Amino acid sequence: MFDPIEKLKEHLRHASVSTDSAFKEGMNGSRDFLESLFGEMGLKVEIVDTDLHPIVLAKREGNPSWPHVIIYGHYDVQPADPVELWESDPFEPVVRDGRIYARGAADNKGPQMAHIAAVAQALEENPDLPLRITFLIEGEEEIGSPSLLPFLEARKEELSEADLVLLSDTLSPSADQLVVTVGLRGIVALEVAFEGPKSDLHSGLHGGAVYNPLQALFEVCASLHDSENRVTVPGFYDAVAQVEDWERDELAALGANEEDYKEFLGIDALHPHPDYNAFEAIRYLPTLEFNGMGGGYQGEGSKTIIPSKAMAKITCRLVGNQDPFKVGALVKEAILARVPAGIKATVEMGHEGSPYLVVPPGRPNTPEDQPVRLAKAFEATGRAITEVFEKPPLFLREGGSIPIIADMKKVLGLDSVMVGLFLPEDNLHAPNESLNLAVLEKGIQVSKKVILALAEG
Ligand code: BES
Ligand code: MN
Repeated sequence: MFDPIEKLKEHLRHASVSTDSAFKEGMNGSRDFLESLFGEMGLKVEIVDTDLHPIVLAKREGNPSWPHVIIYGHYDVQPADPVELWESDPFEPVVRDGRIYARGAADNKGPQMAHIAAVAQALEENPDLPLRITFLIEGEEEIGSPSLLPFLEARKEELSEADLVLLSDTLSPSADQLVVTVGLRGIVALEVAFEGPKSDLHSGLHGGAVYNPLQALFEVCASLHDSENRVTVPGFYDAVAQVEDWERDELAALGANEEDYKEFLGIDALHPHPDYNAFEAIRYLPTLEFNGMGGGYQGEGSKTIIPSKAMAKITCRLVGNQDPFKVGALVKEAILARVPAGIKATVEMGHEGSPYLVVPPGRPNTPEDQPVRLAKAFEATGRAITEVFEKPPLFLREGGSIPIIADMKKVLGLDSVMVGLFLPEDNLHAPNESLNLAVLEKGIQVSKKVILALAEG
């Protein structure tokens, strides 16, 4: 049996940044790494080419009467920039104080390794384990999984006969309180461009006569929220799902504290929608965020111009039954309706993904026809976490997005059991990303118990 931490280090050395074509070699390296690791485990590996980054599919086939679990993960990572803020090389993992530091340590190579190592151990100890397993590790999660939907549709027949999806690509609040994630937000990305005069203008010669595109963009963008942080796009909150009492109870049991949260973030006030506290707003409400804005002179000193152009990048997080295409269209319409005369505007829709909700067994709103194997998987996961972490998990919705999870439900009819193995202090998408190795070790034990329980039928 391989050493999971050594294997993880090996994986982390591949700079698999999916968004930047300069990292092609890292993407290939990561793919090859998975191919040979799954091969060593005796799985049947297939590299599925796509328009962009291939999918690694590794199977343990078996008797069709055996349960079948798909284990999902992604081998791509976010860019490491700004690299100068890292205390060590983002692609040369180092272990310090019980944590492993590298880009992708938490999102998602570490948590994914928990399941790979668990399967390897389970199969080594029990080569006849009556369980079919399909690892589906994609390389485009961080760029919105554009190839996954066509892949699922093409392979629908073969994949939809699985019983459920198991993964770890979500958050737990601390190393002693695990969360089983039962909801993800959806997403829709928009790019806004405002164009005024046909070139930059001298602001002395023309200032006062023309609408400055940057000013127009700020005004329109600022109008998209009211002073209490409600989104003002008409229809924006339609189709937001209701929140069940049991969900509020689980969140209350989390005991999250706004003072601690502010301190963690280094801010002196939070700004949620007036009807929700900060922790509810993250899980239960959609958002409209400005991810970047630009235009005009950004260099040293000053430059007296009216810029010709300005741009903004926006993403909306979605919840419940919100449709990303519909919400994208509503936001586009609201922006275009507010553009002043003298400015030409375009709004392009980018990647999108639907929100996802699953109800664990035994809740008042659990579907009556919930598949027995899914219900058992949730119960086994709850038991395994309780045994290994000596505390039962909370079942909470999450603010982040993994668009493919809703697609697997829509296309394959499969629900997901999501075990949160990264923590708030792990610095996802930020400099000095790391993973708590004690959580990884326990995560392996949890995953192994779940796999053994799944094999029981
Ligand atoms: N692992 C994250 C999703 C996540 C983050 C879940 C935090 C729970 C808590 C995933 O890799 C990710 O970052 N997804 C992107 C998706 C987007 C690019 C379509 C996200 O949420 O921004
Ligand atoms: Mn991830």
